[in-house]
Amino acid sequence: MGRIAYVNGRFVPHGEAVVHIEDRGYQLADAVYEVWAVFGGRLGDAEGHFARLARSLGELSIPMPMTRAALTLVLKEALRRNRVREGLIYLQVSRGVAPRQHAYPAQALRPAVVMTVSRVDRVADEARAARGVKVITAPENRWGRADIKTVGLLPNAMAKQKAKEAGAMEAWYVDELGFVTEGASSNAWIVDGEGRLRTRDTNANILRGVTRHTLLEVIRREGLPVDERPFTPAEAIAAKEAFITGAGTLVLPVIAVDGKPVGEGRPGPVAARLRRLYIEQAKTSAI
Ligand code: PDD
Repeated sequence: MGRIAYVNGRFVPHGEAVVHIEDRGYQLADAVYEVWAVFGGRLGDAEGHFARLARSLGELSIPMPMTRAALTLVLKEALRRNRVREGLIYLQVSRGVAPRQHAYPAQALRPAVVMTVSRVDRVADEARAARGVKVITAPENRWGRADIKTVGLLPNAMAKQKAKEAGAMEAWYVDELGFVTEGASSNAWIVDGEGRLRTRDTNANILRGVTRHTLLEVIRREGLPVDERPFTPAEAIAAKEAFITGAGTLVLPVIAVDGKPVGEGRPGPVAARLRRLYIEQAKTSAI
């Protein structure tokens, strides 16, 4: 069975799914997106992603294309049509189609809505988590609104490419003061020398990761020590453990930064436990 995409009110074969050449998402990156992890055919951490979608759209004065209830129905229908139980679902909402000009068009546009579904091999995913991944660092070079989840991802794509060429899975951005902000597609964490969890606070120019937010709740529920406080790459290397979080990675141990081992250079018990707890939590609350 071929893949099915959703484009502006219709389900169509993936290869035939197209958008207009003057879609403002295509020409100006005037669009936002969300990615949900899918567990057992249901949307993981659903509420958090809907809330962030509403916020991203609001910051750009793009109207919600449909009610949350309608959006949920269409997302779930996309999963059903693709017969995906374990995977990812991608939603993109652009301002719409209009003759190219930078300022927002005066007339009300119909936001363009696209959804695609992909399958994830959870067994391979767990094996990767058991091995851990490597990251490199890269100078923070994104615009100042990384809190809005826009499709303007060229700096992220360039950083990921650099990581790939270095045999790493992720790139961590480092700001002018020498602190890690986040990854190109994930949030960054360490377990420091005293056993305290640390991740960058959301006053910094980072995406407010939904996985990060839920994991903080899990950590507090478990009574583990945690600080929303920045760390440097050197602190990550000296740390007991490091890991990244995101809808695509869940909780994934980091075993090296710029070729230097983190702690003992293998995944540690805290990340493994948090991965298990996060997945449990996301599955329980999935809709
Ligand atoms: N990326 N930081 C950045 C820059 C991201 O792009 C992402 C997610 C995250 C983690 O956010 P969340 O926990 O809400 O997924 C942090 C998605 C998965 C992507 O671009 O595919």
